[in-house]
Amino acid sequence: MKKIIVTGCNGQLGRAVNEYYKNASDISFVNTDVEELDITSIDAVMKLAREVQPYAIINCAAHTAVDACEKEYDRAFQINAIGPRNLAIAARETGAKLVHISTDYVFDGKGTRPYVETDPTDPQSAYGSTKLAGEEFVKAFADRYFILRTAWLYGDGKNFAKTMLRLSETYDKVRVVNDQVGSPTSTVELTKAINALLFSDNYGIFHATCEGSCAWDEFAREIFRLAGKNTVVEGITTAEYNAPAPRPAYSILENRMLKLTTDFMFADWHDAIAVYLKELCG
Ligand SMILES: NC(=O)c1ccc[n+]([C@@H]2O[C@H](COP(=O)([O-])OP(=O)(O)OC[C@H]3O[C@@H](n4cnc5c(N)ncnc54)[C@H](OP(=O)(O)O)[C@@H]3O)[C@@H](O)[C@H]2O)c1
Repeated sequence: MKKIIVTGCNGQLGRAVNEYYKNASDISFVNTDVEELDITSIDAVMKLAREVQPYAIINCAAHTAVDACEKEYDRAFQINAIGPRNLAIAARETGAKLVHISTDYVFDGKGTRPYVETDPTDPQSAYGSTKLAGEEFVKAFADRYFILRTAWLYGDGKNFAKTMLRLSETYDKVRVVNDQVGSPTSTVELTKAINALLFSDNYGIFHATCEGSCAWDEFAREIFRLAGKNTVVEGITTAEYNAPAPRPAYSILENRMLKLTTDFMFADWHDAIAVYLKELCG
């Protein structure tokens, strides 16, 4: 029986990982969220890892509120950088594999072609720089790690698709940013990518996003189309939207390492959101 510690199990990805493996008879999960295991505490992390002696730790915990990270840099650093550092130390100490999730925000967002894993990083936001520090700690302290950089994630939890559907209940028209491009990625697809790596020795950094790309306004239109809503989407610029934290204008990641080292292929974002909305809305 392989024991796997999941952190942040109540988040979008944590739930998807649990759902994916719910019928696996050879895996037992030790599910934790901040009440059971605060990943910012090295003592708590070491204690649990020594008790469980896990095959792997899947880190689904993070401070994902991008705008809040600007105001709460230290808190964001604790969760997004020191947390993964603690898990990396515990993974090394117990011989466990570590799955850690990172983000497109580690790049500057000024690219003109999809970013590959070896491209230089240059985060522009507090969220991005704390997540990059998390990657660096994982690389420094863990022996056997998989870092998956994903983007525009949606699943069982708060996300863009659900926000759009909620707004469509009240408004006939919504204004959505049209000058940021990326790849909407479902937690189901991301979990399949984790599964393609977890039982292998294929360690390192992997870009992990659904295939294809769009701007946020195009994503919103597809959500409304699939959900049978007549809500009109008006495209606006990032400057007009005026969010507190800078967002990358260009967020497209090429899943080069997954393509070159595994048989796994992400679904196209259109197909993944269709599956998601079918389950959500029927
Ligand atoms: N969401 C996206 O669009 C996106 C894009 C790119 C990359 N990612 C990355 O993908 C991963 C999964 O994201 P997600 O959307 O599933 O995140 P999420 O839904 O925000 O879930 C994160 C979970 O971690 C918990 N948590 C916070 N602080 C913790 C701590 N100190 N110890 C233990 N647990 C803690 C949160 O609890 P509370 O809710 O109580 O804080 C929450 O249950 C993260 O690494 C994120 O950075 C996400």
